Amino acid sequence: MKNILTAPFVEEMRQTTANMYRLGWDERNGGNISYLLEESQVAEYLDMNQVIRTIPLGFDASTIIGKIFLVTGTGKYFKNILDKPEENLGIVRIAKDGVTAELLWGYTDGGKFTSEFPAHLMSHMARLSVDPENRVIMHTHPTNTLAMTYVHELNERTFTHTLWEMCTECVVVFPDGIGILPWMLCGTNSIGEATAEKMKKFRLVVWGMHGIYGAGKTMDETFGLIETVEKAAQIYMLTAHLPRVNTIKDTEMQELAEFFGVNYRKDFLNL
Ligand code: 13P
Ligand code: ZN
Repeated sequence: MKNILTAPFVEEMRQTTANMYRLGWDERNGGNISYLLEESQVAEYLDMNQVIRTIPLGFDASTIIGKIFLVTGTGKYFKNILDKPEENLGIVRIAKDGVTAELLWGYTDGGKFTSEFPAHLMSHMARLSVDPENRVIMHTHPTNTLAMTYVHELNERTFTHTLWEMCTECVVVFPDGIGILPWMLCGTNSIGEATAEKMKKFRLVVWGMHGIYGAGKTMDETFGLIETVEKAAQIYMLTAHLPRVNTIKDTEMQELAEFFGVNYRKDFLNL
């Protein structure tokens, strides 16, 4: 059996969370990531019959029984994951009853998965129904994206349009746009259900006055989506109070989307 600390998926989680911490997106315990793993990947490192303990999920995940996730722990700091992965991360499998998680590795100080696990698992289910290759759900508090939710109307069409105007590549990177939820109580099944509903149409969902969720096939793709939104939000926050002299026109965004062959939300443009 190989050492789990050498597993590429653990390494990716350590590097990504360290990177996000350094960008200032994940203060204290802010943010959480879940990474869907193949059983064959994990079996190289762990005895799949060795369940350390079981943890109640608090909702029904019976459509994903047997699925295995590498997940950040609740109350854990992204800052500390690089040095102490086994305390701050866990690998859990959804048990046969559909309402319990079996801990296969990690949370060594008695901890458990993120309080946002309902939103993560429900989002995984929603994304898998439209993209069977989806693997990663990422939640974080990027500074400018969060700032923008205080000063821009929380309307999916206009919020997306504003971001698309801020960097030339935006319409190509997230042509499907941004889903938006108003402020809601976090850590609940209700915000999980609302997020998952949006995830059927969008790979990015902004939580007003809180942060953002991203979904993707790989850690890089998911991080890149959020990074691009955050860059656009930064340009917005740097310019929103200044007179706008130049902009990217809607016809130019259309030209970009068509040139790069992406399936974009035409109804989000004023053509
Ligand atoms: P957790 O510490 O439970 O992951 O919560 C952090 C967070 O960002 C809540 O939205
Ligand atoms: Zn949060």
